[in-house]
Amino acid sequence: MKDKFYLNISSADNLGIGLFKYAFLPQERFIIVNSAFSKILGVNSSREFKKVRLANFFVNLSERDEFFRRVRIDGKVNFFEAVFKTLSGKNLWVAITCSLVVSRDKKEYLEGIIENISTHKEMEGNLSMERDLLQGLLDNLPDAMYFKDRNNRIIKVNKFYAQGVGLKPEEIVGKTDFDFFPAQQAHQMSVDDNHVLNTGKPIIGKIERTLLPDGTWNQAITTKIPMYDKNAKIIGTMGITRDMTAYANLEKERLLMLINTLKILGKALEMRDPYTFSHTRHVANIAEIIAKELNWDENRLLGIRLAGELHDLGKISIPLDILNKPGKLSDLEYSLIQQHAKNCYDLIKDIEFPFPLSETIYQHHERLDGSGYPRKLKGDEILFEARILAVSDVLESMTQHRPYREALGIVNASKELSCGRGARYDSRIVDVALSLIKKNGDKVFWKDN
Ligand SMILES: [Fe+2]
Ligand SMILES: [Fe+2]
Repeated sequence: MKDKFYLNISSADNLGIGLFKYAFLPQERFIIVNSAFSKILGVNSSREFKKVRLANFFVNLSERDEFFRRVRIDGKVNFFEAVFKTLSGKNLWVAITCSLVVSRDKKEYLEGIIENISTHKEMEGNLSMERDLLQGLLDNLPDAMYFKDRNNRIIKVNKFYAQGVGLKPEEIVGKTDFDFFPAQQAHQMSVDDNHVLNTGKPIIGKIERTLLPDGTWNQAITTKIPMYDKNAKIIGTMGITRDMTAYANLEKERLLMLINTLKILGKALEMRDPYTFSHTRHVANIAEIIAKELNWDENRLLGIRLAGELHDLGKISIPLDILNKPGKLSDLEYSLIQQHAKNCYDLIKDIEFPFPLSETIYQHHERLDGSGYPRKLKGDEILFEARILAVSDVLESMTQHRPYREALGIVNASKELSCGRGARYDSRIVDVALSLIKKNGDKVFWKDN
């Protein structure tokens, strides 16, 4: 373009910045432009330029009017954004920065630069769409969601989270869990957050009970993951918590219904054989006391108690004259009695419990050294729950009168446990049982009625 009309400033051309001088008064026309300007507006020759007016490039009349109004009032515009239609008919976003210059002979010119900002605008549009989508998702999510910085301070929460603590989302920014939850609970939350921050490992599906500011407890499932910056550095955590209270209550109700149904079966056993019923009640009691000594949680305690209450339910199908036979049992009779563990297992194995109920009962006559029945399981094959039942069963049986023998007493029961410690019976459980007996003045430590 070796034309005086074209300004040759290669740095501006290389950067794609259009330079222009435009006669404003008395007659509008382009005086001089660079090739980048020509490229942006799709004007190919000085002849074409002579025919076009700056105002004609504006697609929106309101933008055009605002541009010229500012030029007139302020004498300049700075990065004025507008949509232009090029001579080739393409719409693009431009930014104009220019000043009104008045010459000595009172002629007015516009001198300035123009930039094609379409790509920037497109990115801005995409970003804003992503932002709107994310915000929409956050606000409509029926789960509590938060973003925290490296100091566990809240950067952002969604509406659901804010409702849960009774504040507006913006009122929560900058606060920590210690502002909303009891100290012990907030401490555990920060331990979890720090674990994610320090290891980069997420915590997925952790079940937690949360005390809400209104004094109610909810059961929730929480997932926490690290947030990274563009250099893959962990800059905070984000988490999502789903309220499971209604589901947990439903589960609890379902479990209670099941337990009540099974207790009815236990009652049926009592009506038939009062000895077995009081025996199972005592075994449940002993097993629960031992488990409490081992600091088991509520759920596991319920499981071991229920296993105790039901462990001999399988005896319901064994003839009473064999069960209570005063003399020695024949091999056949003994093998029939041995079936009670499997009978009960078969009865309840298809019912789902949040603890291994049927298997615990199936194993309650197994011994660590493989001398038990019915499957002669050994060591680790035997559930810890079943090992507790075994010790509890022995303690109860030996301290009670049976149709075929007198009670053997707590001293002999203790001896049996000591002799079998680590061989037939789990040493840890034996130690707990023996220390309970000792603490109770060498008497039974459970309710014996
Ligand atoms: Fe049994
Ligand atoms: Fe038993």
